Amino acid sequence: MALTSLKNVFSLVSLVALAILHSSFEVASISVNAESEAEADALLIWKASLRNEAQSPLPSWTLLPNNATNSSNNQYTSSTPRSWFGVSCNHAGSVIRLNLTSSALKGTLHEFPFSSLPNLAYVDLSMNGFFGENQLNGSIPIEIGHLKSLNDLSLYANHLHGSIPASIGNLSNLAYLDLDEKKNLYSIPTSLADLGNLAYLYLCDNQLSGSIPLEIGNLTNLVDLDISYNNLKGLIPPSIGKFENLALLQMYENQLSGTIPTEIGNLKLKVQ
Ligand SMILES: *[C@@H]1O[C@H](CO)[C@@H](O)[C@H](O)[C@H]1NC(C)=O
Ligand SMILES: *[C@@H]1O[C@H](CO)[C@@H](O)[C@H](O)[C@H]1NC(C)=O
Ligand SMILES: *[C@@H]1O[C@H](CO)[C@@H](O)[C@H](O)[C@H]1NC(C)=O
Ligand SMILES: *[C@@H]1O[C@H](CO)[C@@H](O)[C@H](O)[C@H]1NC(C)=O
Ligand SMILES: *[C@@H]1O[C@H](CO)[C@@H](O)[C@H](O)[C@H]1NC(C)=O
Ligand SMILES: *[C@@H]1O[C@H](CO)[C@@H](O)[C@H](O)[C@H]1NC(C)=O
Repeated sequence: MALTSLKNVFSLVSLVALAILHSSFEVASISVNAESEAEADALLIWKASLRNEAQSPLPSWTLLPNNATNSSNNQYTSSTPRSWFGVSCNHAGSVIRLNLTSSALKGTLHEFPFSSLPNLAYVDLSMNGFFGENQLNGSIPIEIGHLKSLNDLSLYANHLHGSIPASIGNLSNLAYLDLDEKKNLYSIPTSLADLGNLAYLYLCDNQLSGSIPLEIGNLTNLVDLDISYNNLKGLIPPSIGKFENLALLQMYENQLSGTIPTEIGNLKLKVQ
């Protein structure tokens, strides 16, 4: 008798535990879906802003019926954009990589959902070949500073113009930045020097003017630095000589003057 009631209590407890577990799992999976649907919707707003010329851009970027789960009332809502061309998601369905190199994109970044992609770590919107050249124009929006998880940003060989926004200094995880923009960018913000993890910096072939900010000496993890083909004037900051990991330094085709600092002798690199 006592044993039976103990058993009953025990199974009641495990039932309650199961129910709690089950409901918290439901809540978690519903909120994950809601976040990833919000990311999909935000990316579709940008897609809609792209110019639709000879071919319609990103045809795989559409919401499809989600047959696997039916948690949402709207069955025509895809839970994640993970099957879209160029998009990679984490296990929760949140976008972590966007590789749209050479995807014939024409338009601007003005509608790009910078504030809606908290886990985005890798963005390649560059033109990598002669086929399907991207032609993004307009400015680099200041909202780019919201991509807190960004490690890797390649926008080269588009037609983006203007100044590099100071908010780029907020991208504290950034390790790789390639902004070779066909003579369209004209200033380096000093906040660039806040990017303590930056290892690869390519700003060649723009119209950067003024002197190389002294603060560049804060980028002690630089491996490659290419600021060739710009209008930079003045002295080469001696602090560059303290970059222990520097392997490539390209500064030609500028109006840099003075002597190459003796500190450069400290580097085991290829200077051009
Ligand atoms: C999803 O729900 C709709 C109605 O809301 C229903 O018609 C459909 O069969 C369901 N699909 C699955 C796979 O359960
Ligand atoms: C979902 O169902 C539709 C219609 O039945 C089908 O065309 C589509 O291929 C299915 N998608 C998946 C991912 O199974
Ligand atoms: C990016 O996508 C292109 C095809 O569009 C592919 O060739 C390239 O390997 C991809 N890059 C990375 C780093 O995944
Ligand atoms: C981008 O280029 C297109 C086509 O040349 C032009 O119509 C549009 O005004 C440009 N947009 C910006 C923001 O420069
Ligand atoms: C960048 O960070 C500063 C504070 O350090 C903040 O005021 C600013 O709004 C941020 N900008 C963006 C675009 O995140
Ligand atoms: C960055 O560089 C400037 C100028 O060289 C210097 O005054 C400042 O202390 C540096 N900041 C950091 C965080 O190292």
